[in-house]
Parts: sequence; structure tokens; C-alpha cells
Amino acid sequence: MNDNIIENAIRFAEECFKNDSSGHDIDHTLRVYRTAVRLAERENADKKITALAALLHDVDDRKLSPETAESKSRARAFLKEQGAEEEAEKIIRIISQVSFVGTDSPVPDSIEGKCVQDADRLDAIGAIGIARAFSFGADRKRKMYDPDVKPLEGAKSSEYLAERENTTLNHFYEKLFLLKDMMNTDSAKRLAEGRDRLMHLFVESFLEEWNG
Ligand code: ADP
Ligand code: NI
Repeated sequence: MNDNIIENAIRFAEECFKNDSSGHDIDHTLRVYRTAVRLAERENADKKITALAALLHDVDDRKLSPETAESKSRARAFLKEQGAEEEAEKIIRIISQVSFVGTDSPVPDSIEGKCVQDADRLDAIGAIGIARAFSFGADRKRKMYDPDVKPLEGAKSSEYLAERENTTLNHFYEKLFLLKDMMNTDSAKRLAEGRDRLMHLFVESFLEEWNG
């Protein structure tokens, strides 16, 4: 495996996200990378596997690159080119298991995968999570809120992934408020609590202001 694989993965991810505005920017990936490595230290997980899976976790995301979402071929090609064939299967497996797809989302079967999933989910909640949700909503030309469009609570993947008219505020009920109780590691559970409280306060204030 190339000695500079981490630096190269950062550069590769930067290249992949160059033209994206849907919340899949390089800054998200770098935050997930830093948080995942910190969780890996506390959980005695393999730091290099965790770091690579974090840096590559969104390069084949179904919103960013639908044609490679299934095969994960961008991440695969990068790992091969860097001489990481031996580690590739484990890393690709993690990437396939991290995404939130509803209440039946998979739980990664490795400790490294659990750290990456927790880091990805921590970045979807709290102050940054609120900001990402509204920039995603704006990108999709969604309304912030509409009292007549009800959230699909407790949706399983088949319903969650289906395209439908929706509002950004509903995303809090359909995903963001669920994440606190879906964290794998104890450190992430603790971090999630404060971020979850902030989001609840935000949504409460939002509705109060909306309803005058
Ligand atoms: P991840 O990086 O966790 O795989 P997603 O691809 O599901 O995230 O989404 C990227 C960002 O956009 C996240 O912060 C997520 O919460 C937000 N997002 C996803 N779907 C919606 C939606 N329907 N409305 C508002 N925000 C969304
Ligand atoms: Ni992500």
C-alpha cells in the first residue's frame, strides 16, 4: 500500500466533490474523517482502515454518483491504484454499510465501520446538521416547511428512499431526530445528546415563530 495513501485519498475526495452543492462537499468528508479517527482511537479500531473508509465513504454516494453507487467503482479504482487490494474488501464493505436509508439501516459488522457510521451521523445532526439539511433542501428547491405535508415517521428504506414531495423540516422527523439512538459507540452517543437537544430546540422555535 502506498505510504502516502491518506494524503492521496484526501486529494482524490477533493477532486470528486469539486462541483457538488448538495451537502456532499469535501468539508463534510474531512469532518467525518477527523471524527471517525478520534472514535477509532477510543475504540481501539484500525485507524488506517477507518481513515480510508471515512475519506471514501461518499465518493460513490447515490446522490452524487448514481452510476457507481452500487459498484463503488470510484473507491475501488482508487484503492487498487494505491496498492491497497488487501484492505479494499473491508473498506468497500464499510462504505456499503454506512448510509442512513430508513429505520432498517444496516449496522456495520466491523468496529471500524461503526466508527465511520457514527462520525457520518454526527455530522448530520447539531448546528452543522441543521445547516446541511437546509442547504440540501435549497439545492432540491424544497420548501422549508409546509404544515400540509406530513412527515413519514418510522419509514423503512423502501419508503424513505422513494422520491416524493417533501419539506426540509420533515427531514428532522424522518431522519435527524432518530440518529441519537442509532449511534454505535459510547463516545458518539455522548456527543449526539447535546447536538440532538440543539436540534429539538431549533425545531420548537421554528414552529413557534411560524405559528406567530
Ligand atoms: P450521508 O452523508 O449521511 O450519507 P445523505 O446523503 O443522506 O447523507 O445526505 C447528505 C446531507 O443532506 C445530510 O446532512 C442529510 O441530513 C441531508 N439530507 C438528506 N436528505 C435530505 C432531505 N430530504 N431534506 C433535507 N436534508 C436532507
Ligand atoms: Ni456522509
